[in-house]
Amino acid sequence: ALPRDMSGKRVVVSAGGTREPLDPVRYLGNRSSGKQGYALARVAAQRGAQVTLVSAHTVALPEPAGVDIVNAGTALELREAMHKAAGEADIIVMAAAVADFRPVSRADHKIKKSDRDPDPVALTRNPDILAELVAARAAGKFRSIIVGFAAETGDETGDVLTHARAKLARKGCDLLVVNAVGEGKAFETEDNAGWLLAADGTERSIALGSKAQMAAGIWDFVLNSGTYPTG
Ligand code: C5P
Repeated sequence: ALPRDMSGKRVVVSAGGTREPLDPVRYLGNRSSGKQGYALARVAAQRGAQVTLVSAHTVALPEPAGVDIVNAGTALELREAMHKAAGEADIIVMAAAVADFRPVSRADHKIKKSDRDPDPVALTRNPDILAELVAARAAGKFRSIIVGFAAETGDETGDVLTHARAKLARKGCDLLVVNAVGEGKAFETEDNAGWLLAADGTERSIALGSKAQMAAGIWDFVLNSGTYPTG
C-alpha cells in the first residue's frame, strides 16, 4: 500500500491532448495518450488526495478510482475547466498537451471535397493556460502550487535542460516536469524518464520507469517543495 501522505490535499491534474475542430468531423490534434496525467491522478488518489482530473482526449484508459473527472475536448474548454477547478486546489498540474493553435472558424457542415485547390486553414493562437494560471495566482485568485510539463526534443548537444530551465522561468510556474521526447520516447509509450526542475533551482532526474513510478517521483518532489509562496 502507498503512504497516505497526500490526504487533505486537493489536486487538479489536466491530461490528454486537445482537439481543435475544423468541421463536425475533423480536428487538429496531437499524439498525447493521456497516460502520464492519468497516472498522476491515480497515484495521488491512492496517496489520499482529493483529485479532479480534467481530461482532454486520450487513448482508451481506465478511469482512476476515486477521482472526479471533468471532460474538456478543446483548449478553450480545458481553460474554462482549469480556471473553475483552480480556486479549490492546493496543487495544479498541467500535464495536458494543449494545442498552440486552433482553426479561426469551425465549419457548420463537413467541408466538401471540390475540384479546386483547397483553401488554406487559417489558425489563431490558443491561450497559454499554464501562464494564465500563474497570472491568476499572482493576482491573488488562489494560492496553489503550479506544475507545468515540457516535452523537449533537444538535440545532440544535450541542451534539453537549458531549454527547460528557460521555459520554467518564462512560464513562471513552481515546478517543471521535463520529458525527453522524440525517437519513441514518452509520447504513446508506457515508460517515461526525465527531470524535475523547481523554481528555487532544485533539480533531480527521474530514471526510466513506468508512468506510475514517474508520477510517484513527481508527487514526492512537489510535496518536498513546500507550499506557495516558496520564497
Ligand atoms: O510551451 P509549451 O507548450 O512547451 O509548454 C508546455 C506546458 O504548458 C504544459 O504544462 C502544457 O500543459 C502548458 N500549455 C498550456 N497552454 C497552452 C500550451 C501549453 O497550458 N496553450
